[in-house]
Amino acid sequence: MKVSGSSKALDKIDVQALAVAVFKDEKPNSGLLKSLDQAVGGLIAEVIKAEEFAAKEGETAYFHVAGKDLKARRVLLIGCGDASAYKAAKIAQMAGSATRFLRSKNVKSIGIIPRADGDNEKIAQTVVVGAIMGLFEPDKYRTKDKEKREIDSVIVIAEGADEKVLGRGAERGRIIGESINFTRDLANEPGAYMTPTIMADRAKQVAKEFGLSVDILDQRKMEKLGMGSLLGVARGSDEPPKLIVLKYQPSKFRSSKGELLALVGKGITFDSGGISLKPGENMELMKYDMTGAATVIGTMRAIAQLKPSIPVLGVAPCSENLPSGKATKPGDVLKAMTGKTIEVINTDAEGRLVLADAIAYAKKLGATKIIDLATLTGAVSIALGDVHTAILGTDQELIDQFIAAGKEVGERFWQLPLDDDYTKQIRSDIADIKNVGGKKAGTITAAAFLKEFAEDTPWAHLDIAGTAWADPATPYRSKGPTGVAVRTLIEFIESSAR
Ligand code: BES
Ligand code: ZN
Ligand code: ZN
Repeated sequence: MKVSGSSKALDKIDVQALAVAVFKDEKPNSGLLKSLDQAVGGLIAEVIKAEEFAAKEGETAYFHVAGKDLKARRVLLIGCGDASAYKAAKIAQMAGSATRFLRSKNVKSIGIIPRADGDNEKIAQTVVVGAIMGLFEPDKYRTKDKEKREIDSVIVIAEGADEKVLGRGAERGRIIGESINFTRDLANEPGAYMTPTIMADRAKQVAKEFGLSVDILDQRKMEKLGMGSLLGVARGSDEPPKLIVLKYQPSKFRSSKGELLALVGKGITFDSGGISLKPGENMELMKYDMTGAATVIGTMRAIAQLKPSIPVLGVAPCSENLPSGKATKPGDVLKAMTGKTIEVINTDAEGRLVLADAIAYAKKLGATKIIDLATLTGAVSIALGDVHTAILGTDQELIDQFIAAGKEVGERFWQLPLDDDYTKQIRSDIADIKNVGGKKAGTITAAAFLKEFAEDTPWAHLDIAGTAWADPATPYRSKGPTGVAVRTLIEFIESSAR
């Protein structure tokens, strides 16, 4: 899909459809709405007067244009609710609603008029990210009723703005939006088609296409390094584990202080629970237990193109978690790369086990700051639902900066506490620590476990188990993988480089 920006007047814009943001209580008798209303022969005023369209969030009104005032033959109004709450999240949703709706009408070229105030580059970026995200469909394996229609071009319109600035934002939005959908595509793949080996191949492809360095650690290498925690999870499976390492190295260094940010993502390509087998209901969803890893690879894909001035390391420990005669059993003790011993109470708490060695390995590679992402606990959905992603960690500045980056791009993160007191819950009777801390504060004790491996390296942990999968669909996005946190990670990295 081609994306661009235009600062021309509406009647000069050559697209099949115009999509326009409209706010609650807006009257069609002034400004842009007035000229549009005239172009559609007063129909906008009519639907507003008839209370058919009140610009509530998610509401739409769709017109075919008969007159000659516009080149576009269709106009879509998109309700955006209160103008005061119209920030990044809503702007992206508006654009997603526009592309999803107009694709269903078989429209090929769209002009989106976001009507937002502020930095036009950012606005164009946000619009294009939302537009591209809106078009993601998880129907790859359908042979019937598949969404085959495609939109060829999206133009972000802000009359009188600097077209170069709009175009730059649109191009950045394309890179980010496509990388988010790349992550969603990986997350949506069935376990059989997204094994650790296939994930590693996909990472290699990305590295080659966009110019990242890549290193894939196989089982032998992991054994040599003493990654007994990760290997303990992989033991039950016939598919060999892979530890993916991607690195982005800027050509122009901002500083030579030796700082290195590492992103670490849980890559369990299918989580059956292992010997502590999960109940059958909804188990099919556990194909998305590699979303942390997919998020890391997707973010690196974008970073390689956006080229910030700081280096970034991406680490993704990938394994299946299956029961077999060789599988780790509850009660077994594993020895992690750092030498710490772990009593496995429940083989279904496997994410923290693979992350333990991956975090330690990131440190070994020189990471001075670590952000990990994982579909780690069911408990996080009980605490925060599917609205906020939990963030915990050891470095308040890092956490604050991350939450602020989220606000900037319209993603929500909520900090949970991580006092040392919680670490008591993961004391083991026979080993250094155990992998489950009991019923209480499940998301926090999982993070307390990871903290044992991050040690004194500034570290933040995102538990995306509640936010990485959307159900049901909304007007602006399909059901399924959401690509949560990719946008924020990119903003975080770019803000660190500024
Ligand atoms: N992958 C799951 C967490 C999960 C649950 C993600 C639901 C997405 C949706 C994780 O490996 C797991 O099974 N965690 C256990 C931990 C428990 C055994 C301490 C959980 O949350 O039940
Ligand atoms: Zn599990
Ligand atoms: Zn899991």
